[in-house]
Amino acid sequence: MTDSSAHSTPSAAAAPRRRILVTSALPYANGAIHLGHLVEYIQTDIWVRFQKLRGHECYYVCADDAHGTAIMLKAEQLGIAPETLIEQVNAEHRADFARFLIEFDNYHSTHAPENRELSETIYRRLRANGHIATRAVIQPFDPEKGLFLADRYIKGTCPRCRAPDQYGDNCEACGATYSPAELIDPRSALSGATPVERESLHYFFTLTAFTDFLRRWTRAGHVAEEIANKLGEWLDGGLQDWDISRDAPYFGFEIPDAPGKFFYVWLDAPIGYMASFRNLCDRKGIDFDAFWRRDADTELYHFIGKDIVNFHALFWPAMLESAGFRTPDRICVHGFLTIDGKKMSKSRGTFVNARAYADHLNPEYLRYDCAAKLSAGIDDLDLNLDDFAQRVNSDLVGKVVNIASRCARFIGEGKGGTLAATIAEPELWQRALAAAETIAAHYEEREFGKAMREIMAIADAANEYIAAREPWKLAKQPERAAEVEAICSLGINLFRLLMLYLKPVLPATAARAERFLACELRWDQPIEPLLGHRIAAFEPLLQRVERKQIDAMLAASAEPAAATPTTAATSTLQEPIAATIDFDAFAKVDLRIARIAAAAPVEGSDKLLKLTLDLGSEIRTVFSGIRSAYRPEDLEGRLTVMVANLAPRKMRFGVSEGMVLAAGDGGGIYLLSPDSGAEPGQRVT
Ligand code: 2FM
Ligand code: ZN
Repeated sequence: MTDSSAHSTPSAAAAPRRRILVTSALPYANGAIHLGHLVEYIQTDIWVRFQKLRGHECYYVCADDAHGTAIMLKAEQLGIAPETLIEQVNAEHRADFARFLIEFDNYHSTHAPENRELSETIYRRLRANGHIATRAVIQPFDPEKGLFLADRYIKGTCPRCRAPDQYGDNCEACGATYSPAELIDPRSALSGATPVERESLHYFFTLTAFTDFLRRWTRAGHVAEEIANKLGEWLDGGLQDWDISRDAPYFGFEIPDAPGKFFYVWLDAPIGYMASFRNLCDRKGIDFDAFWRRDADTELYHFIGKDIVNFHALFWPAMLESAGFRTPDRICVHGFLTIDGKKMSKSRGTFVNARAYADHLNPEYLRYDCAAKLSAGIDDLDLNLDDFAQRVNSDLVGKVVNIASRCARFIGEGKGGTLAATIAEPELWQRALAAAETIAAHYEEREFGKAMREIMAIADAANEYIAAREPWKLAKQPERAAEVEAICSLGINLFRLLMLYLKPVLPATAARAERFLACELRWDQPIEPLLGHRIAAFEPLLQRVERKQIDAMLAASAEPAAATPTTAATSTLQEPIAATIDFDAFAKVDLRIARIAAAAPVEGSDKLLKLTLDLGSEIRTVFSGIRSAYRPEDLEGRLTVMVANLAPRKMRFGVSEGMVLAAGDGGGIYLLSPDSGAEPGQRVT
C-alpha cells in the first residue's frame, strides 16, 4: 500500500492570492457576434477561468460599445430609437456569449450612467491638467442629413486613377491616400448630396504631451515586444493630438460645458471597462478604487485584437495617467481569425455568426480548437474546418473521454463503484501530476497551445498504459479482478487530472466529469489521488463532430439572416450611373483577358496586391487594391479582365501598368473573371 501523501503536489496553495481585473474589447452594439469576435472572448474567458481555478480573485467585465454615428444611423434605418437598438443587441450579445460559456462577471453598456459619470470625471481632470485643447476644424458636411461626414461616409472618384466609387480617404483601386476634399465629384454615402465644407470647434486630447511617458510605458513590459516595436515606429513618426469631440447629431454623451459637442465613441469606450466594473462593484460591494487608483496593488489586463492597439496602448494609458488612475499591467494582443485559410467573407459563405455555429456544433469544440492554436503572439489563427473536426475527435473524444469510458465500465460495472485504495503505477501518476505546474505556467503566459500539447501528451501516456495492460482481457479472469480494478482506477485518476487541466477550456464537460467523479476539480490546493473513493455512474461526456454538422453550419451561415434588428436588410446607396459617353470614347478602352501569373502582398500597404499579369504576348505588373478580399495564392492561375491601355502610373510601391476590373460597393470586392475557355490576351468587347 502506498502512502497517498507521496502522490500529491504542493501546487498553487502557497501562492499569494492575486486580485485581477480583466476585460475583452467591447463589441459594437450594431451587429451580431461572429466567430472572429469569439476568439478573443474565448481566449480571455479561458485565462480568467484559469485564474479563478487557481484561487485568485479575478473579475472579467465587458460591455457593449453603444455610441457613435454608425449606431445612430443603423437605428434610424430600422426606424427605432438608438436606445431600443442597443438594448436589443445587448440581449442578443449576452445570449450568444452565454452559449459559448463566456462567463463575464459583468456585461454592461457604455450607454450607462456609470460611464457618463466616469467619462465626465476623466474629461474634467484632463481639462484641469491642461490636456484639452480646442481648435476650429473644417470638415465635409452633408447638407441634406445635417451632419458632418467622417471619411467613410464620403464617396467619389479617385483623384489619382479616376476609379469611381472610392471612399473618402483612400482608393482601393490604386492605393492612393488623400483627403475627401481631393475626391472628384464627392458625394455623401448617406444621402447622395454633395458635401459642403463647414467649420466647427473641436476638442482635442493633447496626446503629444505624453510622448515621453508613452516611450517609457510601451517599453516597460505592458505589451509584447513586437507590439512595442510597432508603437515605437508611431512614436518616432510623431504623435498628434487626438480629436475627441463630435458634433450633434451624435449618439453619445454630451461634453460638459460644451453644448452640441459629444464625446467621440472611442473616448468613452475604454472608460466603459471602468464603468462596467463600477457597476459590478456597486452591486457586489467590491472596492473599485483598489483596482483603479494610481498606486493599486491589483492587476489590470486588457485583451484586444491587433487592430485597436493604438487606442489601448497610446490614448488609453495617456488618459489614465493624466486623470490620476492606474494604467494597465498588460495589453494582451491577439491576431485575427481566418476560416479555411480565408478572411471571413459573407460572399464566400465563410462568415459564421456565433448563433449559426452554436445551432449546429458544440461551443466547447471551438473553445478547444482555439485553445490548441492560441499563443501569446499576434499571428492570425486559422480555423480549418477539417482539422477542427479531426482535432476534436482525436484529442477530446478519442484520447481524453476515451480513458473514462474504457475504465468506468470496470468500476462497479459502469454504474458507479469504489476506486482502488492505491495508485497502481506511481511513476505514471507522478509524471502526470508533475506536469501541473508547467501547464499552469503556459496558461498564465497565454500559451494555451503549449498547455494543450502537454495535456494531450499525458492523455497519450494514459492510453498507452491502459492499452498495454488490456483490462478488458484480464476482466475475463475473475481471479485478476483486483488487477483490473487497479489499472482502471489509475485510468480514472489520470482522467480526473486531465479534466482538471482542461477545466478552463471545457467548463461544461468538466462539470459533467465532476458529477461522474463525485468530486470537484480544484487547482487551488494540493492535488491528491482519489483512493477508495466512490464514483458515480458514467455518462457520455462528448460526442464526435460529424462533417455534416459543419456543412449544416456553413449552409445556415450562407442563408440570408433573419430580420432581427441587427441583421435587417439595409438599403445600400448605389453608385448613380455615370454620364453618357459616346461609342468612340468607350472603344478607346482596351480590355483584355489576363492570367494572374503571380500575386504578392505589397509591403507597407494593407490594401494592395502586386499582380503579375500574363497577356499572352507580354507580362504586366499591376498594383490592385484587392488585398482585403483575396489571398495571393488563391489568385494565381486565375483569369481576369484588365484595362491594357491605361497609361502607366507611378505609385509609391512601383509602376502600375494597367488595372484589373472588379465590382464592389464598399461591402466587398469581386474580381471579374471570364467564362472558362477564354485565353490570355483576348480582347474583351
Ligand atoms: O473595435 C471595436 O470593435 C470597438 N468596439 C472596441 C472597443 S474596445 C474598448 F476600448 F472599448
Ligand atoms: Zn485610385
